[in-house]
Amino acid sequence: MALPPNFLDELRARTPIAAVIGRSVKLVRSGRERKGCCPFHGEKTPSFYVYDDHYHCFGCGEHGDVITFVMKTTGASFMEAVEDLAAQAGLEVPKPTPQAAEAEQKRASLTEVLEAAERQYQVWLFMPEGQAALDYLRGRGLSEATIRRFGLGWSGEGRGQLAAALRAREIKPAQLIEAGLMKQGERGPVDMFFSRVMFPIRDRRGGLISFGGRVLGDGQPKYVNGPETPVFSKRRALYGLDLARDSVRKGAKLVVVEGYMDVIALAQAGFGGAVAPLGTALTQEHLEELWRLSPAPVICFDGDAAGQRAALRTVEMALAHLGADRTLHILSLPPRDDPDSLIRREGAAAFAERLAAAVPVSVALYGLLAQGRTFKTPEEKAAFRHSLVEAANKIPDKILAGEYRAALLEQFFAAHRARPGMWGKPGQKPPVSSPPPRPDATGADLRRARVMLAILLAHPALIHDVDEAFAHVLLPPAEEELRQALHDFAISAKRLDTASLFTHLQGLGLAEAAEIVQAQAGAELRLPPDAHTSEAAQSWWSLYSLMEFSIDMLRAQRDEAQARWLAQPDDAAALRRLIKYNELLRAAQTGEAGLES
Ligand code: UTP
Ligand code: MN
Repeated sequence: MALPPNFLDELRARTPIAAVIGRSVKLVRSGRERKGCCPFHGEKTPSFYVYDDHYHCFGCGEHGDVITFVMKTTGASFMEAVEDLAAQAGLEVPKPTPQAAEAEQKRASLTEVLEAAERQYQVWLFMPEGQAALDYLRGRGLSEATIRRFGLGWSGEGRGQLAAALRAREIKPAQLIEAGLMKQGERGPVDMFFSRVMFPIRDRRGGLISFGGRVLGDGQPKYVNGPETPVFSKRRALYGLDLARDSVRKGAKLVVVEGYMDVIALAQAGFGGAVAPLGTALTQEHLEELWRLSPAPVICFDGDAAGQRAALRTVEMALAHLGADRTLHILSLPPRDDPDSLIRREGAAAFAERLAAAVPVSVALYGLLAQGRTFKTPEEKAAFRHSLVEAANKIPDKILAGEYRAALLEQFFAAHRARPGMWGKPGQKPPVSSPPPRPDATGADLRRARVMLAILLAHPALIHDVDEAFAHVLLPPAEEELRQALHDFAISAKRLDTASLFTHLQGLGLAEAAEIVQAQAGAELRLPPDAHTSEAAQSWWSLYSLMEFSIDMLRAQRDEAQARWLAQPDDAAALRRLIKYNELLRAAQTGEAGLES
């Protein structure tokens, strides 16, 4: 087969496997994957799983990629399946030519050359000549297991050492040049990498495609990356993708960071889903690669002005490619920190908290667009509103674009009605505003609020989880008194059971009021008396999310917490507040129990 491998990659990338399989097999989402009843053996319960680039049946063991699927289900030959899929994807199948066959041969030998160099670099790292490099890596906190997992090595001092070592394996300098390991100098080939720690760069499937090299210490340039070659394209490659793929499939978050050392430090700290572009900004090709793996990768940026500008450029590029299953989360790091330095300073748990506080791009976008602007005049405000609408209009999906427009303008009006000029200067602390007015619980909302009170009377253990959200509901005096009493009880009581609660209420003269609420709620409370707390929590939150205001209210609060934290990324209290509101919002949106136990 003399099809260029590039072509098959392109074909697979343009042919979403779930869509192809979905035409003949009914698939449903199951976590990150999709599953359905296996078409290769009769079954009633689904054990056939479709991943981003392959399928696997846990019942009969059938597996393969999109091309195999077409071959097996239609009886087509390999080339027929390729032709068929290419036609659907609007791609032309290149004619197999002697040149293509030769190019493929070349690529194979190029990979062999890279692998030979990799082995040599690794050997050197653990020999006396690599001692300084090994000390450097250990000094940066890397364990030997990590060093081996990422295949790190030592380049040697240069002056043709690599060529000399590989001559025994019949590898010639001309091949080293093709592989990007040497370059033509004035007096013959010279080493591309010398006196550097070597980082093997692999493709998605773990095939070696190039190297990066770092000086020990402060020399310049700090990193050198291999040049573009037939197997290495910086537009597409992501450092760490092969290892991250496994971790993400096992549930890790996919996180995009800036550098080699960030990927490695994160992996060592237990965040196996980290990848990095190779000294370039994120490209559209990178996004496609990321979205094959996760619908919402987290993109990390520096919290300083330059980092926020980079974030804006990336987000603006991404807007044109967003879709229902293709979005981003944004994580702003404190100024002058990267994930590597943060983990060393704060530890893994703190980074996990930051990761949990990453915000949807729809939320981050507003702050990013507002960076560096002032809103003193109507002209400035109008220009900003234009930029909000323009940004939303970049999204190709019309409905999604409409949602973004609405969300951005909502944030604009919220910010400018309440506190004009809050984004005055980047990094400036927004003025403290009074809390938003609590909506009135009237009519249907009042009835719901009573049922919610009744649920809490029966399940006092829930009060902690819902307390903060419940505080936003403005109740008539009698119900408000009861709500306040529940709040106080939850803070002070040793045991959160109904008997102790009623004793507490009795002491306050509120037992009768509580019984009235229970009686009023009775008919609407469709919860069995012996319901489990988690069931009760679900009912509580679904009632809450039915209240006209609740989700919008929480979203506004969350956005405000977000704005404060973006302005003060170092403020731990602001971060905790943001995480809290994200959790409350998620609980209200999904009707689930509060996240903390
Ligand atoms: P950084 O300078 O932020 O690297 O560049 P880092 O990963 O934090 O490096 P350490 O911690 O000092 O070792 C981020 C990325 O930009 C590219 C590399 O891919 C690097 O990982 N880069 C940086 C270069 O290509 N060349 C350079 O000279 C510097
Ligand atoms: Mn660093």
